[in-house]
Amino acid sequence: MESSRRNNPAIGITGVLVHGGGLFMQVLEGPEQAALRMYVKILDDQRHKNSQIIYITPTDKRIFVGWSMGVIARNDAVEFEQIMELRSQRRKEVVQSKVFTDAMRGFLKILNDGQRY
Ligand SMILES: Cc1cc2nc3c(=O)[nH]c(=O)nc-3n(C[C@H](O)[C@H](O)[C@H](O)COP(=O)(O)O)c2cc1C
Repeated sequence: MESSRRNNPAIGITGVLVHGGGLFMQVLEGPEQAALRMYVKILDDQRHKNSQIIYITPTDKRIFVGWSMGVIARNDAVEFEQIMELRSQRRKEVVQSKVFTDAMRGFLKILNDGQRY
């Protein structure tokens, strides 16, 4: 989080990092090259493994405006409904745009409500 707050604003990256139960899900939004470069940098980080891209799309609208990297930490016992839905869609090869944006808007609401689980 320290790195995100230090680096992301300068390269135009916003997003969210959701974690719990040993699982992390991160959204990186910003200029294509900056987002991809950051993803490659994160891939090299030994603190995690088995990274997968769930969804990637061009867009002209950010969801996490103003969040250099919002953090949502859930209790292990709480299921990540949004993530589970995305994972089940992923098994069907393609994540539907609406399912993805609905899930992300759910995370934005949690951030904006200031809730932390
Ligand atoms: C799950 C995960 C997400 C990360 N997200 C970011 C990020 O959004 N921005 C960032 O600068 N570093 C992020 N990092 C840290 C990078 O892997 C790396 O340690 C950091 O960017 C190094 O910063 P520096 O080049 O300023 O020393 C993340 C690491 C992990 C494990």
